[in-house]
Amino acid sequence: MTPKLPIFMDSQSTTPVDPRVLEAMLPYFTEKFGHPASRNHPFGWEAESGLDSAREQVARLIGARDPKEVVFTSGGTESINLALKGAAEMYREKGNHIVTTLIEQRAGLDVCKRLERQGFEVTYVKVGTDGLVDVEAVRSALTPKTILISVMFANNEIGTIQPIAEIGRLAKDRGIVFHTDATQAVGKIPVDVEAMGIDLLSCTSHLIYGPKGIGALYVRRKNPRVRISPMIDGGGHERGMRSGTVPVPLAVGFGRAAELCRELMPEESRRLAALRDRLQDQILSKVDEAYLNGHPEKRLPHNLNISFAYVEGESMLMGLNKEAALSSGSACTSATLEPSYVISALGVDAELAHSSIRFGLHRFTTEEEVDFVGRRTVEVIQRLREMSPLYEMAKEGVNLKSMHWKAE
Ligand SMILES: Cc1ncc(COP(=O)(O)O)c(C=O)c1O
Repeated sequence: MTPKLPIFMDSQSTTPVDPRVLEAMLPYFTEKFGHPASRNHPFGWEAESGLDSAREQVARLIGARDPKEVVFTSGGTESINLALKGAAEMYREKGNHIVTTLIEQRAGLDVCKRLERQGFEVTYVKVGTDGLVDVEAVRSALTPKTILISVMFANNEIGTIQPIAEIGRLAKDRGIVFHTDATQAVGKIPVDVEAMGIDLLSCTSHLIYGPKGIGALYVRRKNPRVRISPMIDGGGHERGMRSGTVPVPLAVGFGRAAELCRELMPEESRRLAALRDRLQDQILSKVDEAYLNGHPEKRLPHNLNISFAYVEGESMLMGLNKEAALSSGSACTSATLEPSYVISALGVDAELAHSSIRFGLHRFTTEEEVDFVGRRTVEVIQRLREMSPLYEMAKEGVNLKSMHWKAE
């Protein structure tokens, strides 16, 4: 039976709101509409109590000891901006060096580029061919001027999960603030800021079946107390770190989404990993010269990223896009189609980096959907390769790497 089309398999970009989340949010748009900072009437108390519960739910999901450590923001991008710029400004007297990686999401990289323009020095640590950061490489990048280490928890393209607890220990030993962009990891795999020595953690609601427009920055209050400069000045909301009225319905939704993730995670991650492996097997058993990107085990349970030699990722998506929403590793920047910087950082050559496809399963993905997408992926790849002179030549034994192409 054909499942309902199109099938959404791009859950690293966003996720649908869980109906249970929507249900929790609805009263806060209508009868519970008060301002959480209105301390002198019941409308305010009701809104504040909704916000308090949401803060507790998010804190519990990430292992924070104190809900006060959770600062609501507009999402992952803002949290990362606040963490990096806020820490850089606060600790500037101590030093001007930041250590991060080459495969951070754009928000992390672009903030670092801006900080470089402002006089900070940034070291971008390389990753291995499996996408893993070597803790020793982080250690050797540190200098007496290092004030901040920022390493993403799990990558948004290849799903590789970094050795966060080890990096946390290293940062603690050296007295350096440690931020992690855990936007893709929170709600999907266990995250524990205490056990992992995380000082600042960015996350977002729309990747955990919550609404768009809200996220959080965890800011450690004890052992050590971490301080950041605010980026938005105003009424002093969120303990002075992020002024502006908190959107209570969105926060309540985020909180409920966090609670559901905590309850469902063990079963959900097992189910999604099994479906992901099924999809991977269906594709890799039928398509030659297809290569898994990222670490085969240390990766998010719902994430699959494969490069298909001799096929353009974008052509592949066009062949499928009425049926399935997937993502290619290429980003359209102006006139050129650039291969993904993440896949390129793994040492994959440009051709293969252009041919990567990311599959993202989610809470509502079914086995029928996986089987359908697996079958159609194989068919589209085979059709595109039938039309590819390069594939034909490679099959005839021509060494394409030794060819010299002449432009007419
Ligand atoms: C790793 C990573 N960091 C940051 C973000 C940005 O989060 P937001 O969309 O909430 O701004 C994303 C978004 O997908 C992400 O995948």
